[in-house]
Amino acid sequence: MGKHWKQSVESDGIARLILDKAESSVNTLSREVLEELELELTEIANKNPTGLIFASGKSNGFIFGAEIKEFGQIDNAQEGTDAVLRGQALLNQMEDLPFPTVAIINGTALGGGLELALACNYRLAADTHDKTLGLPEIRLGIHPGLGGTVRTVRLTGAPTALDLMLTGRSISPRKAMDIGLIDGIAPPEDLDQVAATYICNRPKQARAPWYLRILNIRILRLLVARALEKKVAKRAPRAHYPAPYAIINLWRQYGGRDKAAYNAEAASFGRLLISSSSKNLVRVFFLRERLRNLAPRKNKVARLHVIGAGVMGGDIAAWCAAKGLEVTLQDTTEELVEMALKRANKIFSRLLRAPGEAQAAQKRLIMDAEGLQARSADIVIEAIVEKLDAKQNLFRNLESNISPDTLIATNTSSIRLEDMAEVLEYPERFVGLHFFNPVSRLPLVEVIKGEKSARDSLQIAMSFVMQIGKLPLPCKSAPGFLVNRILAPYMMEALEAFKDGYCSETIDAAARNFGMPVGPVELADRVGLDVALNVSTILQGISSGKNGSDILRKKVDLGQFGAKTGHGFYHYKNNRAQRRKHFPTPDTQLQDRLILGMLNQAVACLEESIVEELEFLDAGAIFGAGFPPFTGGPIKYAQEMGINKIVERLTQLSEEFGPRFHPHPGWNRLARLRL
Ligand code: NAI
Repeated sequence: MGKHWKQSVESDGIARLILDKAESSVNTLSREVLEELELELTEIANKNPTGLIFASGKSNGFIFGAEIKEFGQIDNAQEGTDAVLRGQALLNQMEDLPFPTVAIINGTALGGGLELALACNYRLAADTHDKTLGLPEIRLGIHPGLGGTVRTVRLTGAPTALDLMLTGRSISPRKAMDIGLIDGIAPPEDLDQVAATYICNRPKQARAPWYLRILNIRILRLLVARALEKKVAKRAPRAHYPAPYAIINLWRQYGGRDKAAYNAEAASFGRLLISSSSKNLVRVFFLRERLRNLAPRKNKVARLHVIGAGVMGGDIAAWCAAKGLEVTLQDTTEELVEMALKRANKIFSRLLRAPGEAQAAQKRLIMDAEGLQARSADIVIEAIVEKLDAKQNLFRNLESNISPDTLIATNTSSIRLEDMAEVLEYPERFVGLHFFNPVSRLPLVEVIKGEKSARDSLQIAMSFVMQIGKLPLPCKSAPGFLVNRILAPYMMEALEAFKDGYCSETIDAAARNFGMPVGPVELADRVGLDVALNVSTILQGISSGKNGSDILRKKVDLGQFGAKTGHGFYHYKNNRAQRRKHFPTPDTQLQDRLILGMLNQAVACLEESIVEELEFLDAGAIFGAGFPPFTGGPIKYAQEMGINKIVERLTQLSEEFGPRFHPHPGWNRLARLRL
C-alpha cells in the first residue's frame, strides 16, 4: 500500500489504482504523488491484470491539477523542463500498458489531473451540470505540460483543443463528451461497473474526426495560427502574457503530433514557468486562496434582507439568491422591487444553467417592499441612496424591528461608518460590506471595520462573503477604503490629461497598453460621472492636489452621467463605448502619469494601514481595481521595476505636473522590504 495510491486487483482480474492524497483534502499531483505512481504502475504491470481503472478516493473530485506550491521551488527553465519530461514519460508509460486503462472522473479534473485521464485509453465522468473539467494552466501563465497540448488535439481536433487551452475555461462532462474529450458519463454509483465493461469490450478509442484532422496540414496551421494570434493579441499582449502565444506556436510547429511535440511542450513549459508573468500569476493564485480562507467557514447565513433595490441592492440580492440564500428585498415601492426582480431573472439565467436552478433562485428572492421580513434575517444589508440623513433615518427605525444579534451592513462607498453608527443602539454589530458594480462580475467585497465594529461581527461578515463565493478584503474605515482610493488618482489624472488636450481614446489606450482592463475615462463613464464627482469631492486632498471635478460637474449638469445615460466622455450604443478608430498614439509619459499615481496612492494606503498586510494591498488592487494580474499587484510591480526608479520618475513628474506626484515617504520603508 502506498502513501497516496491504493492498489488492488479484484476477482474480475481488473486492477484498481485509487488516489487518496495523504494529509490533503483534495488530490493534487505533487512530485511525491507522481513518483509513487511510477512504482505502482510497474508493480501492476507485473501482475498482468485484464485492465486498470484509475479513480479518486476523495468524494470532492478526481484530481485538481499540479501541486502549485512546488512551482515556486523551480527557478531555472531546464529544471522545469526536466520535471515535466519525467511526468510525460510516466504518462506515456501508462498509455503504453499492454492492457486497457480507464479513468473514472468523479468530479473536478483540472490541469494535470485531466491530462492524467487523457493518457488513459478511456475516460468516464460522473454526470453533473457542474463545469468540472478543464485545462486552466493559462491562468498561471503556463500551458499543459504532461502531454495535454498533444492529446487534446488528437482527441478533439485543434479548434476545440486550442480554445480550451487558450481560455482555460472549464466545461461540463456532457460538453466534454460532445467534443470527444471523454467517452461516457454515468451516475457516480455506476461508474466502476461501466468502466469494467469498457475493459471487457475494448471499444475503439476516440479520435478527432477526419474533417478536424485536416486542419493539422502545415499550410492551414500557419494560416489559422496567425489568425489566432491576432485574436489573442486583443486581450493579452505578448509582452505581458507569453503563454497563449506559446500554445499557438506549439500547435503551429508540431500540429500535436509525434515525440517532438511532447519535447517542445516540455521545453516551452520550462521557459514559461520561470517567466515573471507566470511567477506573478502564481502569486495572484495564492493571493486569491489567501482571501478565500481568511475566516472560518462557520456561521452559515441562511436569510438575508436587502434594503434598497437599486443598481447595487438589487444585484446583491440576486447574487445571494443565486448562491442559495433566502433573500428578501425592500424598497420604497413595490414597483422598484419588481424592476429589481426582473433584472435578477436575467442574472439567474446567465449564472444558473442546470434545469430548475434559475426557477429555484427566483423562489428564494422575495419581494418585501415594506421590510416586514427584516426581523428574521441573519444579515441586513443597506444599499439605499448615498445620503447620511436617509441612512441614519433608516437605521433608527430598523434596529427596533430586528433582533440584537442580526448583523447590519452598509454598502456605502463614501459615508463614514462612524457617522451612520451614531444612531445605532448596538454599533458593534455594524460593518461595511462594499460590493462593486456590476456585482455579478466583480469578485471582491471590502469588509469595513468601523471604530465600534466588534471582531465577531467582522468574522461573520467575512464568512458571509466567502459563503457567497466572493473574496473578502478586510479594510479600515477611511474615505474610499482601498479600491476607490487607488482608482481615484487613476481617474482624476485622466481628467487632467483630458484638460491637457489628450483625447479620451488616447488616454484609455495608454492605460490598456499597460494592461488595465478598462481605461480610466471609460471607467469614469461606467461608474457614472455623478458618482465619480461625488467620490472626487470626498477624496479631494487625499488623492491629488488638483482634480478634474470641474469637467465632471459640467458633464453632470448637462445630464451626461456616462454609460447609464448613453452619454459621458464617450457616446454609448448598446452599452458599448463608441470610439474613434484613429487617434494619437499614447506616449510613455501619459502612461506613467496614470499608473504611477496609483502606485503612489497604494503606498499611502499601506502606510495608513487601510489594509493590514502588504499582500492584501496587491490582492485588493488586482481583484477590485483591475490592476494587471501579470504584474503581481502594484507593490510587487514597483519592487520588480525598482523602487528607486519609480521614486525618481515620480519626482520628475512632480516637478512637471505638481505636488500630486510627490513620492510618498512610505516608499523608503518599502525599499527595505522584500516580497
Ligand atoms: P440607486 O439609486 O440605484 O438605488 C438606491 C435605491 O434605494 C433606490 O431604488 C431607492 O428607491 C432606494 N431607497 C432610497 N431610500 C430608501 C429607503 N429609505 N428605504 C428603502 N429603499 C430606499 O443607488 P445604488 O447605486 O444602488 O447605490 C446604493 C448604495 O450602494 C449607495 O450607498 C452607494 O454609495 C453604494 N455603492 C454604489 C455603487 C455603484 O456603482 N452604483 C458601487 C458600490 C457602492
